[in-house]
Amino acid sequence: MADTASPPREQWGSRIGLILAMAGNAVGLGNFLRFPRQAVDNGGGTFMIPYFIAFLLVGIPLMWIEWGVGRYGGVRGQGSTPGMFDALWKNPVAKYLGVLGLFMPVIVLIYYCYIESWTLAWTFFSLTGQTQGLDQTGMSSFFQSYVDLENGSIHGFWVPFGFFFATIAVNFWVVSKGLTAGIEKLAKIGMPILFFFAVVLVIRVLTLDPVTTTHLGVTTTQGPMDGLRFMYTPDWSALASPKVWLAATGQIFFTLSVGMGSLQAYASYLTKKDDLVLSGIATAATNETAEVVLGGSLAIPAVVTFFGVAGAVAVAKGGSFDLGFISMPLVFNSLPGGPLVAGAAGVMWFGLLFFAGITSSVSMATPALAFVEENFGWKRKRTAWTLAAIALLLGILHIVYNTRGFLDEWDYWAGTFGLVILALVETIIFVWIFGPDNAWKELHEGASMRIPAFYKPIITYVTPAFLLIMMIWWTVQDAIPTLMMTGVPAENVPVKWASRGVMVAILLFQLWMIRTAWARKAASGRDA
Ligand code: ALA
Repeated sequence: MADTASPPREQWGSRIGLILAMAGNAVGLGNFLRFPRQAVDNGGGTFMIPYFIAFLLVGIPLMWIEWGVGRYGGVRGQGSTPGMFDALWKNPVAKYLGVLGLFMPVIVLIYYCYIESWTLAWTFFSLTGQTQGLDQTGMSSFFQSYVDLENGSIHGFWVPFGFFFATIAVNFWVVSKGLTAGIEKLAKIGMPILFFFAVVLVIRVLTLDPVTTTHLGVTTTQGPMDGLRFMYTPDWSALASPKVWLAATGQIFFTLSVGMGSLQAYASYLTKKDDLVLSGIATAATNETAEVVLGGSLAIPAVVTFFGVAGAVAVAKGGSFDLGFISMPLVFNSLPGGPLVAGAAGVMWFGLLFFAGITSSVSMATPALAFVEENFGWKRKRTAWTLAAIALLLGILHIVYNTRGFLDEWDYWAGTFGLVILALVETIIFVWIFGPDNAWKELHEGASMRIPAFYKPIITYVTPAFLLIMMIWWTVQDAIPTLMMTGVPAENVPVKWASRGVMVAILLFQLWMIRTAWARKAASGRDA
């Protein structure tokens, strides 16, 4: 198959719409929740060194590679990686390797939507003033009672289900509308709101007066600048730690959405006239601005001001979401101006998280949608609502078994380790098998600017080598102990195995779908 004429496909409505949708794809919960915690947890300012090295050597190259792979497939009628890899590499194995670009986004989509539903819930709670007047213990119980179904101390057990169902419904309603009327429109509305809320909050946080706090008997006076200093104070010993390099590379992957299959799917709606070089770098730059400038100036400086550095360390080292869902509402309650200001700040913070989340999650739904539509002839609405039903059912498992580690397994194998595998496979296929010269030519098709020449050897040798080293390092350092469930409490082991079992079932089902799709194509080719 591959080079044959393809049916007409949807295209992005405008260049600004495309850039906003791509930026929306990349800018997500990772920028505002994951990044500050990773930075603080991994050496503060020192984290930024491996972070920027990973950005330059794998982040930017993969951004271009994924846009290139996506458009190459898209102009041949292929909106997901099985078809894209098959078009790039005439080998029967290629399409099966492409399953990674279906598996990763579906898995991440489901648990990501669950976390996104918390942001919707907390926007509502902020609007209705439910988190006002709560102290540290109260705020913590408010959060725990929501995320742990066995702890019904505050929320009714149906509350998390309600917000999750609503989140899934909104996501798939957007997706069911199609590319321009759904996804592009959402980005055009959501991204400006997100940036507006973020800028207002950053200004408010950075102009806070220093506050005197007492933590463990020590009284200090600290302000937002102390927070920035704390976040960016280098701990040079961290540079020698493999853990920090893995964390920094993992953050680059997650935040740029590379290795996830969703950028390729969006890029498949480009034409040969579109400028991949400029748009790719614009997307990466927008994401990094949102992450380092905005994401880095929000949660940590705010928390340091009201709880001191010691308090912020305790929060950052605690649960993954304590910073965003416990400390930030406490900060808002302490802002001068009373309940109205606290409520408005809460709506802006959780609202920005929701828009950051949804503009990413709709992109994760796109590869599977395109795959079913293109290979099985289903209409978009039918495909979207079927996928919504599957996401809903599987999401229930996350809600019920959240505190038992069900979600952590998916986040690790698909949202962390799996991203590197897909990135490595696609780099090898696009750069080495398709060929460095072909890849370079493909990237420049329609481009008004050229990628600096030194990036050619980087993309050809450095990026794959970096990915390979990281993957080996990751396997030894992290993946093997995670696989062996080292340190996992015995009562969580069965749930974690069940979580893996569901992932394997999804993977096998997708492989079967690829096999069926290609068998159908072969049969229709014979009949023609
Ligand atoms: N890139 C998206 C994020 O940062 C997935 O959340």
